Amino acid sequence: MYVLGMESSCDETSAAVVEYKDGVFEIRSNIVASQIETHRLYGGVVPEIASRAHIEAVTSITTQALETAGITLSELDCIAATTHPGLIGALLVGVNFAKSLAYGNNIPLVSVNHIHGHVSAAYLADKELKPPFLALVVSGGHTSIYVCESYGVLREIGTTRDDAAGEAFDKIGRVIGLPYPGGAALDKLAYEGDSKAVKLPSPALQHTLDFSFSGIKTSALNYINSCSQRGEEINRANLAASYTKTIVDGIVKQTRAAIEETGLGQLVLAGGVAANSHLRQALARMCDDKKVRFTVPPRELCGDNGAMIAAAGVFEYLDGRLADTSLNASASDEM
Ligand code: KG4
Ligand code: ZN
Repeated sequence: MYVLGMESSCDETSAAVVEYKDGVFEIRSNIVASQIETHRLYGGVVPEIASRAHIEAVTSITTQALETAGITLSELDCIAATTHPGLIGALLVGVNFAKSLAYGNNIPLVSVNHIHGHVSAAYLADKELKPPFLALVVSGGHTSIYVCESYGVLREIGTTRDDAAGEAFDKIGRVIGLPYPGGAALDKLAYEGDSKAVKLPSPALQHTLDFSFSGIKTSALNYINSCSQRGEEINRANLAASYTKTIVDGIVKQTRAAIEETGLGQLVLAGGVAANSHLRQALARMCDDKKVRFTVPPRELCGDNGAMIAAAGVFEYLDGRLADTSLNASASDEM
């Protein structure tokens, strides 16, 4: 079967065609229009601008996705759109576009949860992957550990009580003058510094699998402020290295505990922050130690993209959860 996946929850407009045959996925196209350059001017995503940019891009991105795949609308078995969570105005662009395309061409429509999409990117990368497994989703809006019990079914066993890891990276990146989004720039800068130079609190909470990133963010800001009050120049590389190491160690600690608690022998890392090289390496080492199979999608499938939404859409379709023209979007985790 062929599924068109549409993603517009934040600052990427994406459409992709994914083929699913005999239990194996193949990406036929995955076109992503990023708005990062536009939002960089403001140091973060401006929701109103994001919605307008999605409107401008959605038609040509979808046309390109179909053309690159060599698939016509009449050959599609289903259209899958991200409906939640995300920026409501941004989501509505993709959802309404998908609804019109589905209705006008008589194609079945399904709703996809963005987090399920991120986890489903792992099926595109790893043909052997089957539930149950542990999924760690680390993105700009989420930091959570789930048990993926079966295709499309995630049970949360740990989550952040405040900010997400991506937000924490972006915030400090911005304060030390790195271009938005700070995550990727901090990742590189961290290789140039001493990770023991700045003492910061762990984001891993005790006696639970939950996280809190507000403490480490505040500590890093206090460090920056006290340096500037003393007239000292901040060693940005040392801060990047210490901040990254403390966050990565905290995430690895909770993930190791989740593996021990559930006894699961497979871990999936997903979400935009899964592109972080320090996190990928540290989790790979820990999984090696614990003899746990580790899957992380290639970087281009970690950030927001339509292919991951199409993959998640396949399971919605096969489970018969079809949507109709009353389909709406929601900013929150639940519809
Ligand atoms: O999944 P995503 O594309 O959007 C959301 O659903 O939130 O994640 C975006 C987040 C941003 O916070 C960005 O800074 C972060 O992923 N990110 C990284 C890296 N590449 C992207 N964070 C750390 N290291 C990276 N290499
Ligand atoms: Zn995302």
